[in-house]
Amino acid sequence: MIDGCDREIDHLRLSLTDYCNLACRYCAPAGAAPPAQMIDRRFAEALVRWLSVRQGIRHLRLTGGEPLLYPHLIPLVRSFAALPTLPEITLTTNGSALAQYAGPLRDAGLTRVNISLDTIDAERFAFITRGGKIEHTLVGVEKAVALGLSPVKVNMVVQRGFNDDELVNVARWALSAGCVLRFLEVMPLGPSAHVMDKHLVSADEIIARLSEHFELRAIPQTLGQPAVDYAVSSDTVSGTLGIIAATTRPFCDRCRRLRITSKGAVVACIHDDRRLDLTCCWDGERLDETRADAILFDSVMNKPAEGKRSQSLPMIALGG
Ligand code: 5AD
Repeated sequence: MIDGCDREIDHLRLSLTDYCNLACRYCAPAGAAPPAQMIDRRFAEALVRWLSVRQGIRHLRLTGGEPLLYPHLIPLVRSFAALPTLPEITLTTNGSALAQYAGPLRDAGLTRVNISLDTIDAERFAFITRGGKIEHTLVGVEKAVALGLSPVKVNMVVQRGFNDDELVNVARWALSAGCVLRFLEVMPLGPSAHVMDKHLVSADEIIARLSEHFELRAIPQTLGQPAVDYAVSSDTVSGTLGIIAATTRPFCDRCRRLRITSKGAVVACIHDDRRLDLTCCWDGERLDETRADAILFDSVMNKPAEGKRSQSLPMIALGG
C-alpha cells in the first residue's frame, strides 16, 4: 500500500479496546472514563485478514487501552498468527496482567511485547497511573523476559517534573533486567495537549543526560523504525537504549503506519483528526472488502505529509 506521499504503509496498529485498568496522565483524560469499547472479535479478524492479504500489511501491533483486558485476545492472536502474510505480531501493554498472559500469548504466536513503564518508584507509579501497583508490571516484565518474548522493550515516556530525574536509574534497571529501554518524548495530543507541552523533555536533552553516565554508540536505524537506538555500556551494565523523538524530530517522512481504533475507525495520521468509519463495511458476518478498499484508499491518500497537531482524541482512544 503506497500513500499519497509515496510512503509504503505496512504497519497496522489495531486498538482492541479503549478500556485500561490504569489511567496515565498523558494518555487518559481526567474525569469519568467513557463506557469501554471492545472491537468485535470477528470484525477484527476480518479487518486484519483483509489488510494483510489484500493490502500488504506485514506488521501488526495490538494496542488499547489495555489489550490484555480484551476477552478474546488469545484466540485472536492465534488466528492472526495463522496468516502467512503477517510475519510480525506485537503488543503494547502496561504489563499488569502480563505474568498471566505472556505464556499463552507466546504459544498463540505473539512475536514480542512492549511494556509501558515510566518509573521504578512505586509511589510515583501510583501517581502517574492514577492508582496502579508497580509490582504487577515488574513481574510482568520478568515473565516476558523469562519466556523469551524478546527483545522485551520497555517504553518510558519522559516528563519533566514527573520522572526526568529517573533516566539513569530506569536505564540501569531495564538493562540489568535484560530489556531494551526506549525513552519516548511526550506527544501533545487530545484534550490535555497543552499540559503535555509543558512537560516535554527533548531527545537532545535525554541524550546529553545519559551521556554523562553511559558510553553511547548509535546503531544504524532499521526501516520503518522511528527509534534511534544506542549500544550502551558503563562499568556495571550494557545493552540497548533507544529514543523516540516523535515531537522534536517527527518521523512523518518515514511513517509506515495506519491505525484502527476499537470503534472501527481508520486513522491514517496520529496527529490528524480525520478518521473514517469502517463499521459500515461489516454486517456482523462479512466484511465488504470492496467498500473497505475505497474507504482505505481515501484515508491513506489523504495521510498528511506532516502531522498537523489537530488530534482531538487522547492516546487511550487512539491506541498509541
Ligand atoms: N506521548 C507519548 N507517548 C505516549 N504513550 C501514551 N500516551 C502518550 C503520549 N501522549 C505511550 C504509552 C505506550 C505507547 C504506546 O505510547 O506509554 O508505551
